[in-house]
Amino acid sequence: MELQQQIAEWNDQFHDATPEEVIQFFLSHYKKKIAFSSSLGAEDQVITHMIADINKAARIFTLDTGRLFPETYDLMHATCNRYRIDIQVYFPNADLVQKMVKKRGINLFYESVESRKLCCSIRKLEPLKRAFKGLDAWICGLRRDQSITRHDVQMIEWDEANQLVKINPLIDWTEEQVWAFIRANNVPFNSLHDKGFPSIGCQPCTRAILPGEDVRAGRWWWENPETKECGLHARKR
Ligand code: ADX
Ligand code: SF4
Repeated sequence: MELQQQIAEWNDQFHDATPEEVIQFFLSHYKKKIAFSSSLGAEDQVITHMIADINKAARIFTLDTGRLFPETYDLMHATCNRYRIDIQVYFPNADLVQKMVKKRGINLFYESVESRKLCCSIRKLEPLKRAFKGLDAWICGLRRDQSITRHDVQMIEWDEANQLVKINPLIDWTEEQVWAFIRANNVPFNSLHDKGFPSIGCQPCTRAILPGEDVRAGRWWWENPETKECGLHARKR
């Protein structure tokens, strides 16, 4: 069967399935050819909990851009201890970072969208490409109502940019469902979530939001909502 047709069938098949069922199916379908990419965000902690319940040997990785919050490193450590799992950490290529910083400055991201995207591409996309080597599919924690850039994301998609099947088990969950699961299961979460940070990325590119603001308003807050993706989730429109 054509992969595109298979993906459409899976989307039908898993329309009413729980995230656990979706994760279980794809972990056993793709075996060693699937990995979960975790930013340690609230959604990702839910998925890590579910994966650890299903198969502790499943591959989970994270991209350490070198600019994360100290709270995120604490959570990384606490999560590995709590679930007795290994989260593989991918770092940016030191040479590329060094050249970029020399040419454009350490905080280049505030200068223009182009500079910000260059930084994301060196600190996140290049390591992501390395993390993807040998994979057929990846799992991530996107939810449809996170942002206007994510409204038409499907649970199972063909990720053209990375040539992989992309699985978003929490695509239909609301923020309330994520937090109900975290509380009910005592899932470790980033202490910044209690300080006004619903969506957490790199420290210089994330601020707390005010009551009533959009959940991603604190990410790259100086940019327009339309540009606020780092390229990890590039999509054809
Ligand atoms: S971002 O594109 O704006 O940074 P967001 O923080 O919403 O993404 O996270 C969406 C999904 O992208 C996460 O659930 C996770 O699967 C993946 N992701 C984002 N940042 C990272 C990271 N640093 N390491 C690994 N995966 C990440
Ligand atoms: Fe660089 Fe900011 Fe992108 Fe992090 S989020 S990689 S610091 S531009």
